[in-house]
Amino acid sequence: MKTYTNVKDLGNLQEAVKEALEIKKNRYAYKHIGENKTLLMVFFNSSLRTRLSTQKAGMNLGMNTMVLDVNAGAWKLETERGVVMDGDKPEHILEAIPVMASYCDIIGVRSFARFESKKFDYEETIINQFIQYSGKPVFSMEAATGHPLQAFADLITIEEYKKIARPKVVLTWAPHPRALPQAVPNSFADFMNEADVDFVITHPEGYELAPQFVRGAHIEYDQMKAFEGADFIYAKSWAAYEDPNYGKVLSTDRSWTVSDRQMAKTNKAYFMHCLPVRRNMIVTDDVIESPQSIVIPEAANREISAQTVIKRLLESNY
Ligand code: CP
Repeated sequence: MKTYTNVKDLGNLQEAVKEALEIKKNRYAYKHIGENKTLLMVFFNSSLRTRLSTQKAGMNLGMNTMVLDVNAGAWKLETERGVVMDGDKPEHILEAIPVMASYCDIIGVRSFARFESKKFDYEETIINQFIQYSGKPVFSMEAATGHPLQAFADLITIEEYKKIARPKVVLTWAPHPRALPQAVPNSFADFMNEADVDFVITHPEGYELAPQFVRGAHIEYDQMKAFEGADFIYAKSWAAYEDPNYGKVLSTDRSWTVSDRQMAKTNKAYFMHCLPVRRNMIVTDDVIESPQSIVIPEAANREISAQTVIKRLLESNY
């Protein structure tokens, strides 16, 4: 594995989950693998979970870890080629990337969708520049169109909590005051489509996700109907994908907020969310504080998904 940007990079998904669960039993068993290796984490956007869990994962593997917040203390980076750099950005990413790479052995990158150009976002311009110009193994810590460390942690969590072999998993859109990227729902769909689950996506009309992520998933526009008999509810807000509304908020309909009303339709479903979550927009206090909420163990599994990925990158490349 040279890069980690989507589910396919993991190869056999069942094997990857099995490896992750083995790592979880003794996360310090591989301390020798990363000795004298340096992990650089580059953040173009804010983070709590990804920053801490990925750094912890690197340390569990014996690595040295460095974090660069591009927007807090580093030179502002120009990311477009051909631009006359007479503005407020003194450094070009095409010099910055190989310089950063010269100090480390593996690079994690967080760079959200900007919603300025669908082409720029969906071509994954930023992380692909790291892949092309760093010469080092690169993994996504949430890029413009995917968050595969989150989705891998989500799948590990579903595997741990499922009560039947093939659970019904529902991804539901929920309202939010700001336009959020499609990265989390895209990757969640990507993983669920590869996993042995009955996968349903529910959202208001106009919020259709990109077809390459939805693939054969069942779309149900009636949220209450979608929740019937569900074993897992995965809530997330996202902005519209389809043109001409790319990156826009089309609805703030709070009847879509996950509450006891919808959860009563489920098969005592577990509630999941990647966090951070806006309470009483995405989910009510009662649901997120209920015994069925597994958002904390889900977040804790971010350390395990990151460690599995970094371990594989070390093993394949060094
Ligand atoms: N779920 C997630 O990626 O959280 P952070 O944005 O805090 O890293």
